[in-house]
Amino acid sequence: MTGGAGYIGSHVAVALAEAGYQPVLLDNLCNSAAEVLPRLEGLCDKALPFLVADVRDRAALDGLFQTYQPQAVIHCAGLKSVAESIANPLLYYRNNVEGSLTLLEAMQAAGCSRMVFSSSATVYGAPDALPYTEAHPLRPMNPYGQTKAMIEQMLRDCGAAHPQWKAINLRYFNPVGAHPSGQIGEDPRGTPNNLMPYVAQVAVGARPRLQIFGTDWPTPDGTGVRDYIHVMDLAEAHVAALQALEGQAEVQDINVGTGQGSSVLELLEAFTQASGVDIPWEAAPRRPGDLACYFANASLAHTQLNWSARRDLATMCADVWRWQQNNPKGYAA
Ligand code: NAD
Ligand code: UFG
Repeated sequence: MTGGAGYIGSHVAVALAEAGYQPVLLDNLCNSAAEVLPRLEGLCDKALPFLVADVRDRAALDGLFQTYQPQAVIHCAGLKSVAESIANPLLYYRNNVEGSLTLLEAMQAAGCSRMVFSSSATVYGAPDALPYTEAHPLRPMNPYGQTKAMIEQMLRDCGAAHPQWKAINLRYFNPVGAHPSGQIGEDPRGTPNNLMPYVAQVAVGARPRLQIFGTDWPTPDGTGVRDYIHVMDLAEAHVAALQALEGQAEVQDINVGTGQGSSVLELLEAFTQASGVDIPWEAAPRRPGDLACYFANASLAHTQLNWSARRDLATMCADVWRWQQNNPKGYAA
């Protein structure tokens, strides 16, 4: 698994181990901490091979494929900040697209032809209709989203060229939450870009108040609506996708969401319920590039992967709160 030390990758590693797989992790630690590894090994109750390497390092990949001969690759490595991608697009194309290309070439050379890819709902862009189905046109609105759409296309092209090639592009909606142990969770560097980690840092007193980016959106309470999905549900979707790859003929695109939208104010209310802490907030201007509302049609995941999200917003908030309280400074503490 690439990006195995990251937020989503670490939770996927636990789900894989629980399902009886032996994950092998690769990460260059550009946005994660080595401290995650001993915690993961504790949760998985076994040693996890871990290679600190860049996914663009072909020699490192060749060595890994030779040593471990993986049956499949879960490809989570990538840079993910929309704002950074707008400010520095070439960094995103170089890291995400070149990284995926190098990985696919190494897989081809090693005869490994199964991949589950971390894509994003951001590939859809402004919605023609909601919920988004997988057939919605792809109109990414920023370089980060463009890299996801390009990598998806590379996988579809590989599938068209090589009958043995099997891949699933998992289009994540808004992953939040943490492992229920409170041992692993989301640990953004610097100021969080995303809502849930920001709220969690306000709740532990690390930041004074939340800014709500727009209270005048055309939504029921005026704040942005998203489809928040618990990271353990998302992790289990990867296991389901790996299993489904076996019986699948072509490359598939599959939404991973709950199908339910929640507003910023609804999330704040759920967090307060879970934590007993009031979250001070102030209205701020809309964030450039944001959409008012989107959520998934998650029925394809149900029919193709036999997977549906099980954990609700209250559980997402309770698990984030446990992680944040146990680790007020993230892995650095
Ligand atoms: P993350 O930053 O916590 O994890 C990504 C990991 O990839 C990090 O550990 C980082 O060090 C590693 N990495 C980045 N570039 C690398 C490279 N060139 N070589 C090796 N390792 C590299 O992010 P995350 O939230 O866990 O996201 C995982 C994947 O899911 C990303 O591809 C992201 O774009 C995608 N995704 C995330 C979200 C979200 O909201 N978190 C939503 C949709 C899609
Ligand atoms: N928001 C605030 N204040 C904040 C942060 C966010 O009000 O400090 C609002 C946003 O305006 C939005 C909602 O909270 O209405 C959710 O924002 P996030 O930044 O948490 O999530 P986004 O939906 O903007 O984007 C996320 C990831 C992208 C990914 C996308 C896919 O950041 O990388 O989901 O659906 F592409």
